Amino acid sequence: MRVSSFGLLLAWVTTTVHGSAGESQEVARTKNIAIIGAGAAGSSAAYHLQKYAEQENFNVNVTVFEKAGRIGGRTLTVNAYDSPAVPVELGASIFVNVNHIMYNATRDFNLSVNDLEATLAGGDITAIWDGKTFVYESVSGQSWWWDAAKMWWKYGTSPYYAIKMVNRVVGSFLRLYEKPYFPFRSLTQRVYELDLASITSITGEQFLRQNKARLPRRRFQSIMYMLTRLYPDQPELLARYHPSCHAETMVSFATDGAVQILGGNWQIFDNMVQSSKASVYKNTAVASISLSPQHEASAPKYQLSTKEVSSEQTEDYPVTFDKVVIASPWQFSNISAQEGVIRHSIDSIPYTKLHVTLFTSPFSLRPGFFGLEPGSKAPSTVYTTLGADEEPHKGAEGVGRTGFYSVSTLRTVINPNTAKLEYLYKIFSAEAVSASFLSDLLGAKVPETFTTVHKEAETKDAGVDVISWYYPHWFYSYPIELPRVTFQDPIIGDGLYYTSGIESFISTMETSALMGMNVARLIADDITEATDENEATVETHSYSNEEL
Ligand SMILES: Cc1cc2nc3c(=O)[nH]c(=O)nc-3n(C[C@H](O)[C@H](O)[C@H](O)COP(=O)(O)OP(=O)(O)OC[C@H]3O[C@@H](n4cnc5c(N)ncnc54)[C@H](O)[C@@H]3O)c2cc1C
Ligand SMILES: *[C@@H]1O[C@H](CO)[C@@H](O)[C@H](O)[C@H]1NC(C)=O
Ligand SMILES: *[C@@H]1O[C@H](CO)[C@@H](O)[C@H](O)[C@H]1NC(C)=O
Ligand SMILES: *[C@@H]1O[C@H](CO)[C@@H](O)[C@H](O)[C@H]1NC(C)=O
Ligand SMILES: *[C@@H]1O[C@H](CO)[C@@H](O)[C@H](O)[C@H]1NC(C)=O
Repeated sequence: MRVSSFGLLLAWVTTTVHGSAGESQEVARTKNIAIIGAGAAGSSAAYHLQKYAEQENFNVNVTVFEKAGRIGGRTLTVNAYDSPAVPVELGASIFVNVNHIMYNATRDFNLSVNDLEATLAGGDITAIWDGKTFVYESVSGQSWWWDAAKMWWKYGTSPYYAIKMVNRVVGSFLRLYEKPYFPFRSLTQRVYELDLASITSITGEQFLRQNKARLPRRRFQSIMYMLTRLYPDQPELLARYHPSCHAETMVSFATDGAVQILGGNWQIFDNMVQSSKASVYKNTAVASISLSPQHEASAPKYQLSTKEVSSEQTEDYPVTFDKVVIASPWQFSNISAQEGVIRHSIDSIPYTKLHVTLFTSPFSLRPGFFGLEPGSKAPSTVYTTLGADEEPHKGAEGVGRTGFYSVSTLRTVINPNTAKLEYLYKIFSAEAVSASFLSDLLGAKVPETFTTVHKEAETKDAGVDVISWYYPHWFYSYPIELPRVTFQDPIIGDGLYYTSGIESFISTMETSALMGMNVARLIADDITEATDENEATVETHSYSNEEL
């Protein structure tokens, strides 16, 4: 079911006739479109807008403003040892094959992928730890299906139902890509229509319980574990499977391979922006959006002011825009909107503050840290969960007594300075990692000053032989998944669009890219229908002609 309908996806996009737009058209003025933010959502919006314009023969002049000096947003790669030969994902690290936009872009831009399954060194053990004991452990060198089989014997058909449920959810979700569900003016409406509210409005544990699997927490954790075994090396997704979090990640766990782009996932978005032919202003933050005094009521125009990072000065941007896409969580964008610009106010959504710490070391994880006998082998990847005696909490408190979400050995790397083999680690935690934690974890002394000196900056010479390269960072990573049934809709004003509402539903590169594509389609429909009929009908169309 999941795969069979793929061929049909979006096929309609190329064949649908939007009025009589085309050669017979009189000189329709080219629309100026601003996209604020070039993460997954903004890049995809630019890319798809250009695609639709080519396919349907209309003109757009797209300008992308990006506060950072690079494309990708929360999808970013850093270089271990400051060496481009050792790239490592700091932000969004994996996607799966059923992620159509990501998958198609990989193919269309000729990017190479890392098959994560293959990079898992034989003998590596992944485990779930509750701070006292291992709730679950994989068996060295065995593949996920062996775990699945064992689970079957132990728990009967419950895991099977869990997998089936995931597939059902993914199947429903993918309909969002298809007519008549695509494009959508209301995500809330679609979630309801596709019966996805049943997962967004309850927590993960409740979800599994309601859906056949009546399980005590232990078993829930085992199922969660098995699902994650389908994709090794995905602590960010598992962190969200933590009991303090939400079931939304179901959609991320389709049962196809997990991949990442060799050299960094950001390349997908960089290629999208390049092939969109948009004018791109990096290191340029949009500071304000206001209505142009010259606009007509039926067709508002927006003026932007921008600020270059290097300057204190805010400047008015010389072009007025017919459409503006805000492609960043509003509350972190630091944009002021003149009264009357935003017609549907944007809710402030609580985001998890997640610390991601990358480092290299010749030391392996100390078995004693996890209460294992000296001389035994510590698991290479440890996810944490709450102990049976711990109460679940939301947000940072939810992490429980272990204090961290995961520690993973990503791979072995050659230290270019010493030519020695070392380990590359990634820690996800609710608070910044301390030197004493690192000392305890590695069984070697890391000086107290180490973690205080290295704040947000990369280090040239850590000055210690225990940790040879250290990169701490934190993100407002994704919304704290409070059960929700309503979502910020993509149209927030007349010709004003917003992509981040989808993050309260699911926050992944693919879903943000889907919202970018959705907004591109809504804009394309508006442009082609407006040139066909009459400018004055645009506004009516935006608000009354909801496609339900
Ligand atoms: C640590 C971590 C791990 C993750 N792991 C995964 C994973 O494995 N798989 C997955 O699919 N997803 C993962 N995610 C989630 C994923 O990164 C996000 O869902 C997705 O990247 C969001 O994209 P976006 O374009 O909506 O927002 P963003 O990526 O945040 O992009 C917004 C952009 O807007 C820019 N901007 C903001 N304000 C302004 C302004 N005023 N003017 C101009 N520009 C502005 C920002 O600089 C930024 O580039 C992870 C996230 C984090 C933090
Ligand atoms: C992905 O590519 C396939 C094959 O070209 C196409 O049918 C499908 O519509 C594309 N999907 C998206 C989301 O671009
Ligand atoms: C197209 O956009 C660019 C970048 O914003 C701008 O410099 C140019 O003037 C625009 N062209 C028209 C015809 O408005
Ligand atoms: C990808 O490779 C194919 C075949 O080698 C080539 O035709 C195509 O132009 C390439 N596309 C890009 C974006 O480089
Ligand atoms: C937010 O914008 C204001 C006004 O443009 C600016 O003075 C301030 O430094 C910005 N804050 C951040 C955190 O970027």
